[in-house]
Amino acid sequence: MPLITWSHMLSTGIAEQDAQHRKLVELINQLDEALYTGQDKEMQGVVLAQLIDYTVYHFGYEESLMNQYDDEDTARHTAEHSKFVQVVDDFQRQFETGAVLISTDLMHFLRDWLTGHIMKTDKKMGQRLAQHGLH
Ligand SMILES: [Fe+2]
Ligand SMILES: [Fe+2]
Repeated sequence: MPLITWSHMLSTGIAEQDAQHRKLVELINQLDEALYTGQDKEMQGVVLAQLIDYTVYHFGYEESLMNQYDDEDTARHTAEHSKFVQVVDDFQRQFETGAVLISTDLMHFLRDWLTGHIMKTDKKMGQRLAQHGLH
C-alpha cells in the first residue's frame, strides 16, 4: 500500500501545481517502496536525489507564480520551502556519509510535511491565484 494516496483533499485547483504535487507523492511513495522492499543503499540514494531535485524544481515553480502575482504570503511560503530544502539536504549529506539511514521516521516526516504544506499553504495560494483566473 502506498504511503500517500492522492485525494481531492490535496488538490489546490491549479492544474500544473496539482500535477507537480502528484509527482512528488509518487516519488515519496517510490522512496518508501525502496525502503520496505529492501533496495540497496545506492538505489535508495538515487530515488532520494530525484525527490530532492524535483522538490527544488517544484518550489521554484510555485515561487515564480507567487512573484508573478505578487502573492501576499510569498515571504512566509518561500521560507517554509527553504527550511524544508535545508532539512532534506542535511539529511542527504548525512545519508551519503553513512551517518544516517532512510527510516520509517524519515518517511513519515516527508509524508506529513508534504501533505500538511499542501493543505495549509499551497491550497490557500491556489485559491488566491484562482481569483486571478489561473486554473
Ligand atoms: Fe507545492
Ligand atoms: Fe509550497
